[in-house]
Amino acid sequence: MKIFITGVAGFIGSNLAKKLLELGHTVIGIDNLSYGSNCNISNLLENNNFLFIQGDVCNPFTYNNIQSDVTVHLASQKIPRYTNALRTLEENNLMLKNIVAFCLGNKSRLVFSSTSDVYGKNITTPINEEADLILGPTKVKRWAYASSKIHSEQYVIACSEAYDLKYVIARFFGTYGPNQNLTWWGGPQSLFIQKALDNEPIEIHGDGSQTRTFTYVDDTVSALVHLIENEKSNGEIFNVGSLPQEEISISKLASLIWKLVNGIESTPKLNFIPYETFGRYEDVMRRVPDITKIKDYFGFKPQFTLEEGLKLTIEWQKNLKQL
Ligand SMILES: NC(=O)c1ccc[n+]([C@@H]2O[C@H](COP(=O)([O-])OP(=O)(O)OC[C@H]3O[C@@H](n4cnc5c(N)ncnc54)[C@H](O)[C@@H]3O)[C@@H](O)[C@H]2O)c1
Repeated sequence: MKIFITGVAGFIGSNLAKKLLELGHTVIGIDNLSYGSNCNISNLLENNNFLFIQGDVCNPFTYNNIQSDVTVHLASQKIPRYTNALRTLEENNLMLKNIVAFCLGNKSRLVFSSTSDVYGKNITTPINEEADLILGPTKVKRWAYASSKIHSEQYVIACSEAYDLKYVIARFFGTYGPNQNLTWWGGPQSLFIQKALDNEPIEIHGDGSQTRTFTYVDDTVSALVHLIENEKSNGEIFNVGSLPQEEISISKLASLIWKLVNGIESTPKLNFIPYETFGRYEDVMRRVPDITKIKDYFGFKPQFTLEEGLKLTIEWQKNLKQL
């Protein structure tokens, strides 16, 4: 198949492109390198079945002459905790409109990347795809990300009804692994590993009792491959995450990473930062996916425990440090 990936130089995009090329697909990827990196795709550039376009998804002229059977739309602005909410709302909306128009013009199936953040403050555990989406007050700007992804999901479904757009929506639950962004953009693992490697205190927002269920990127990619290759996924929404028993609090995650980096006997250095420091911010206290649907459809089962995935990620990050 010919597969078009937006955000190909980012974390999930680069890992996905590598896997799709190994499977014999042709991959065309676009990225404006705002958060992604050339390093993430440098090994792919030698592959004749890979074409990289450095360009902005907001400008359709950079890619309107290509063709694809499936389009995986990963490029996105994320939670505006530190960036601005306007960019999250405007850019995500404009990119999606362009990509939907591209898919309709190309008769390309759309795989849209959504997020567990759409479940907002619904702490039903584990949470499935039919659950209510419960957001906090509009004035808390972190909800701009979830709002933009909910709008995107609705937009995709509306375009399916109006124009017969073929689509599948994947809601990712925190993914980590090689090629993750090393700043706050990449999530807690990259920052925690970096602090542990530097023997500096790991900063934790709040008291660290909030829990998450993290997915190693190879598992996220293998779930995506099912959704890309299989038309049975058409018109469906799938949680993409790991097993509920992998749930862990953020403070335990920090301690685990510290001990994997500095040895089991070492006492973790943790620094708790009160939420008030971030202005009006709301955290989600629990987030655990129900992945029964993707398991029933495709037999998907995560292959990596948190500890296994973290060990691989730490090795990757250690090697980066030595470059
Ligand atoms: N990583 C996670 O844990 C996670 C969790 C939930 C949802 N998601 C979603 O999955 C998708 C991929 O996430 P990721 O972690 O790989 O993010 P990422 O930031 O590493 O990758 C996104 C890529 O898109 C590129 N990009 C952004 N705006 C662009 C634009 N206007 N034009 C061209 N390229 C642009 C960035 O440069 C970056 O390389 C996103 O849609 C994100 O919302 C990720």
